[in-house]
Formats: sequence, C-alpha cells, structure tokens
Amino acid sequence: MSFSPSSQIVCNLPRVTIVGAGRVGSTLAQRVAEKNLADVVLLDIIAGMPQGLALDLMEARGIEIHNRQIIGTNNYADTSGSQIVVITAGFPRKPGMSRDDLLKINAKIVVEAAKNAIAHSPNAIFIVVTNPLDVMTYLAWQATGLPRDRIMGMAGVLDSARFETFIALELGVLPTDVKAMVLGSHGDLMVPLSRYATVNGIPITELLDATTIERLVERTRNGGAEIVELMHTGGAFFAPASATSVMVESILLNQSRLLPVAAYLQGEYGLEDVVIGVPCRLGCGGIESILELTLTDEEREGLRTSARSVRQNIERSQEIIRNS
Ligand code: NAI
Ligand code: 2OP
Repeated sequence: MSFSPSSQIVCNLPRVTIVGAGRVGSTLAQRVAEKNLADVVLLDIIAGMPQGLALDLMEARGIEIHNRQIIGTNNYADTSGSQIVVITAGFPRKPGMSRDDLLKINAKIVVEAAKNAIAHSPNAIFIVVTNPLDVMTYLAWQATGLPRDRIMGMAGVLDSARFETFIALELGVLPTDVKAMVLGSHGDLMVPLSRYATVNGIPITELLDATTIERLVERTRNGGAEIVELMHTGGAFFAPASATSVMVESILLNQSRLLPVAAYLQGEYGLEDVVIGVPCRLGCGGIESILELTLTDEEREGLRTSARSVRQNIERSQEIIRNS
C-alpha cells in the first residue's frame, strides 16, 4: 500500500510573509510558526539565506510540535495571497552612518518591498518594522496606496514592553503584572505615559517616587541604544520579534487588542498627515479604531514634538526620493 501526501484538498491556511530574513525577520518567522499562527514565507535578497533558515525552522517542527510550513525565497511570486506582510528589510544605523544615509538606504528598500509585496498580496495587512520606523511606515503607506487601517508600524508594543520590564525589575514584580503604554515616535522623542502605568491596577505613581519613574522613562527612551552599546554587532531582535508577533496574532485571531501602533493620523490628537504611535484596536481588518486618550498638557506637547520631528523626516525622505 502506498501512502503519499494528499494533493486533492486545497486548504487556505493563513500565510504571513516576512520581507527581510535578518535577525528580526527570522526570529519573527520562528515566533509566528511556533505560536501556530500561520504558514510563513521568509523573503530576502540574499540567495539561499532565507531558504536555509526556512529549512532549519522546518526541521524543528517535530520537536516544537507544530505543523506550519515555512518557505524561504528570493521571489515575490512565492508570497502570493498573504494575509499579512511584515517588512523588516533594511539596515540598522551603523557607526559613521548619518541619519540621512540610513533614511536613503532604507527608504529605497522599504518602498521597493512594499510595492512588490502588494502586487502579489493585494488584500494583505502590512506591518512595517524597518527604521526609522514612523517614516518608513509613511513611505510604505504611500507606496502601496492602502487605506490607513491596513498599514501600520511596530514600535509601541516594543517600547511599552521595555518600560514594563524596567518597572518590573525596579519593583521586583512579575512583568506580566505590569501594564504600560508608550506613544509617539520610535526614538528619543517617544512618550511613555507613566500616569497610565499600573501594577495589577495600582498606578506606579503610588509605588515609585517621581525621580525613579523619570529614570525608568529615560531608560525606556534609550532602550534600543542600550542594547546596541552592549552588543556592538547590531541591535535588539528577540523582543522586537515578540512585539511584532503580538500584532500579527491580534490581527489573525481578530482579538481586537488595544495596542500602541504607529498609525497614519487624520486629525486624531490634533495631528494630520503623519505616522506616529497611538493606541489602536487591532483586529482582522487591521486598525479597527484609534483611541483618543485625554492627555495632560505636557503629554500632548510631548506627542506634538514627536510628530513634528517625524514630519520633518518625512519631508526629508520625500526630498531624498525625488533626488535619487
Ligand atoms: P538585519 O541586518 O539582521 O536584517 C536585515 C535583512 O534585510 C538582511 O537579511 C538583508 O539582506 C535584508 N534586505 C536588505 N535589503 C533587502 C531587500 N531589498 N529586499 C529584501 N531583503 C532585504 O537587521 P535586523 O536586526 O533584522 O533589523 C531590521 C530592521 O528593523 C532595521 O532597520 C532595524 O533598525 C529595524 N528594527 C526596528 C525595530 C522597531 O522597533 N521598529 C526594532 C528592531 C529593529
Ligand atoms: C530598537 O528599539 C533600534 O529600533 C531598534 O531596538
């Protein structure tokens, strides 16, 4: 008796494409597959590299106990019909590289990736991870022409997780008991909302003095740089991949989780035509709604300053694209 794989039944399993099979992209592929969320297509420009990573991940399936397919490719045709496309392609800033240099290199990569991916998955929801995050998300929104609910950037979930970690370490409590939200751009001008941070419902302002909270806020703002300084050879990728997988999960499982997401704003928080981190509900249609929190004058000013800086970089990126 012969026993061969069934070819009669075509199952439409959810598929997530990850463009950029570097450290963030490959770790995200592992998270998505091992959480049993979707099949994964891992795409990179380096020949053989995503194929090798995919095979390695496939060989772990029996041990990790899941049956998700992981495909490695250099060809966008293999990404067809994806429900979600995550863009991690691009480079982190290296020593000697100016912000403009990074903007120039990554803008070209992200615009090209977004155009290629949308051509093969016209119904997909896009999540951008490449830095500078808010500007790259804006460029991908422009390049795809997608409605704003179907394109977003990941940074706030990571920045919030860092803030929660530092609070948990300071108080000696479980990180799962700490809830916090960080808004604004991904970088020095992010806006951690200490007032809304709690340990199982108790505001941290009841548990920590103002100087300590300010120290934790500063460490959060410097969270990415702290890891780069320690590692010398690149930046964070475990927590960024985890943070992105939470967004993928909320969309694929229609969880409607309220998460800080870099979204295109059209008047929310008094901000127009800019991408910045705000609280969003994420479900199967992408961004279901944007929550407008009541902010103090200081928090509102922090968000405006953050948005002004992103806006300047968006204009700079448009100039770079025009001249290239
Ligand atoms: P990496 O260098 O390990 O991987 C980047 C990958 O992109 C490489 O494998 C490279 O071959 C690939 N790539 C380059 N051009 C491409 C193209 N045209 N098409 C397809 N693939 C291409 O970098 P890593 O650590 O994975 O970081 C990726 C990006 O994510 C960086 O820009 C980094 O700054 C950013 N990042 C953003 C975070 C956030 O919170 N938004 C957190 C961590 C990283
Ligand atoms: C991070 O925050 C650099 O965006 C990167 O780790």
